Amino acid sequence: MSESNNPTASRREFLTKTTRTAGVSALAGIALPHVHAASTDTIQIALVGCGGRGTGAATDALNVTNGPMKLVAMADVVPAKMNSSYDKLKTQFGDKIDVPQERRFLSFEAYKQAMDALKPGDVVILGTPPAFRWVQFNYAIEKGLNCFMEKPVTVDGPTTKRMLKLAEAASAKNLKVGVGLMVRHCRSRQELLKRIQDGQIGDIIAMRGYRMGQGGGIAGPRPADESELVYQVRRFHAFLWLSGGVFSDYYIHQIDECSWMKGAWPVEAHAVGGRHYRGESLDQNFDTYSVQYVYPDGTRLYFDGRNMKGARDEFASYAHGSKGSAVISTLSHAPGMTRIYKGHNIPRVDNRKQLPLPADPNLVWAFPQPEKSPYQWEWDDLTDAIRQNKPYNEVKRGAEASLVASMGRMAAHTGRIVTYDQILNCPHEFAPNADKLTMDGPSPLQAGPDGKYPVPEPGIKIDREY
Ligand SMILES: NC(=O)c1ccc[n+]([C@@H]2O[C@H](COP(=O)([O-])OP(=O)(O)OC[C@H]3O[C@@H](n4cnc5c(N)ncnc54)[C@H](O)[C@@H]3O)[C@@H](O)[C@H]2O)c1
Repeated sequence: MSESNNPTASRREFLTKTTRTAGVSALAGIALPHVHAASTDTIQIALVGCGGRGTGAATDALNVTNGPMKLVAMADVVPAKMNSSYDKLKTQFGDKIDVPQERRFLSFEAYKQAMDALKPGDVVILGTPPAFRWVQFNYAIEKGLNCFMEKPVTVDGPTTKRMLKLAEAASAKNLKVGVGLMVRHCRSRQELLKRIQDGQIGDIIAMRGYRMGQGGGIAGPRPADESELVYQVRRFHAFLWLSGGVFSDYYIHQIDECSWMKGAWPVEAHAVGGRHYRGESLDQNFDTYSVQYVYPDGTRLYFDGRNMKGARDEFASYAHGSKGSAVISTLSHAPGMTRIYKGHNIPRVDNRKQLPLPADPNLVWAFPQPEKSPYQWEWDDLTDAIRQNKPYNEVKRGAEASLVASMGRMAAHTGRIVTYDQILNCPHEFAPNADKLTMDGPSPLQAGPDGKYPVPEPGIKIDREY
């Protein structure tokens, strides 16, 4: 077995070799030698956070066709999650899964052990809740690893500033980093963007985004055998320190894709929202959110989020221009089904039973179907950059997207207009000790004497969200 596909090759052996050939690559800020140049080199993967998306990202990684990939280590904090992820991947990929029991790690430090099993130039997948992103990315950079991290990458101002610095550190080491805003890799959205930039709908004067679904982010009572920390981690959409709540975790996509089409980040947000129907749930989310995001030219994105059973669903985004309108997303992230209409009457598509899309006399253009999944494209693009040694680092834009999501969320939660600078410089860091958590230690968020967690109170708590 050559060193490039031997996960157990010692770190010392590797460092000795690279030190001889390329100088002290392990030092921060020094670009790594280009490894995995050949399409026949096996890129090893470690999966940190073996839940639904982590397992999905590993699947996409192992499905790339531009060279061999192998999963060699896994890390999680919940044994059942790790086991079901391993079983699923092993069944699907057989020999591409080389993760014996001794390379399956369980603890809040497990990410280090999993990354220690890789060599510089390999890839770590960060599929954990966003609270841990900067902690685990920091270690990936230290180890000289390329990285794929899920969105959001931050949940507040202080961690965004930290992430922006880490982005620079990763680029200084020539690391390739993908962020799971996969719509950016969707060829249908890329074609739409080109058409918008070419002026096909004129100047964008307004955008609309909707993420309205049947609930989410609920947390029932804590089971007696679960620590408070593990209870929260397992229900991370419920707690702001872990995920930024459903607002950041779900809505970031619509906010990001609209801002991408607009070619700018919003500079301020004004929002309303409230909490009426959450019953005994212990979570910190609102049922509804409605945000006006303002762009530098004064145009707006109107975003509506709703987490409420029985209400109408919508999962879509639209751009309205001076000459026509565009559909950026229909019914979900994929397929994009992007299209352009004359005027502003966009036919409503409420569910998949109404597909294929209705014929419409105002339709100017539609991306041809079927489309390849953007979740696969994002891995094709990342691994291509690794193998071809192309500059590739999505962390800055991922951190900015995460920050503007936090800006809208904070505007709703405080009942104030929040500007980009205010959210960036807001000193409230939700989990300053996210790098020091232990399985039996306390959570950064403690229940009050009534067993409940603090929730936002717009107009009452105005400098911080809880
Ligand atoms: N891009 C997308 O469309 C998309 C879709 C779904 C989820 N996501 C993102 O993926 C991330 C994970 O979401 P999910 O739906 O897979 O959740 P999940 O709960 O299914 O998976 C998270 C996993 O991380 C583990 N974990 C938590 N803290 C950990 C830690 N400190 N160290 C190691 N493991 C830890 C959990 O036990 C769990 O197995 C979130 O950031 C979410 O926003 C993105």
